[in-house]
Amino acid sequence: MKQDVTFWENKYQENDIAWDIGNISTPLKTYIDQLTDKDLHILIPGGGNSYEAEYLHQLGFKNVYVVDFSETPLGNIKTRVATFPKEHFIQADFFELHNLHPNLSFEIILEQTFFSAIPPQLRNNYATQTHRLLKSNGKLVGVLFDDALNTDKPPFGGSSEEYISLLKPFYSLAIFEKCYNSIPNRANREVFIKLEKN
Ligand SMILES: C[S@@+](CC[C@H](N)C(=O)[O-])C[C@H]1O[C@@H](n2cnc3c(N)ncnc32)[C@H](O)[C@@H]1O
Repeated sequence: MKQDVTFWENKYQENDIAWDIGNISTPLKTYIDQLTDKDLHILIPGGGNSYEAEYLHQLGFKNVYVVDFSETPLGNIKTRVATFPKEHFIQADFFELHNLHPNLSFEIILEQTFFSAIPPQLRNNYATQTHRLLKSNGKLVGVLFDDALNTDKPPFGGSSEEYISLLKPFYSLAIFEKCYNSIPNRANREVFIKLEKN
């Protein structure tokens, strides 16, 4: 079970990207549509082809960052959205971001199929790393699969109960509920989260 850069880069090279819905997902779009402050610092970890970043950029958000360790999807978004600030695409390991860019911190981290991509043994690191990268009033927002899925390869699944016990020490759970507006093939299999940094 090798979940490293080569694993993901090969998936993009072979166009074996079943997770990629080719557009921003409805839950993320609905959340973004009610944001008004275009100066918010927003991070999208494991953003892949980065449709959320593209959407935010089109709406005029100026401080949107993507961190992904795969070169191909970052190349794709750079080509697709030539006006996006190139330095906001960070090709790096999410878990090293604080060391590489110690001055970066965010009001919002947007989660969309990154949590389910990382090996489950890194989930505690995900909780600590998202918490570390957020400003004091920061929020972790997005969708998590509430579905067992795979245990030996991504997407790794889990349950709301597991996620709550993982995240509660770090966040107050402003919203943690069954997602009402998932895309059809994820319906009833996702929770929408809006977690406020403790
Ligand atoms: C399942 S894909 C999701 C991509 C995108 N969020 C989407 O929904 O289309 C997971 C992404 O996370 C990236 N990734 C996995 N582990 C990573 C890590 N430790 N640091 C940075 N990127 C990582 C992969 O390169 C891949 O682009």
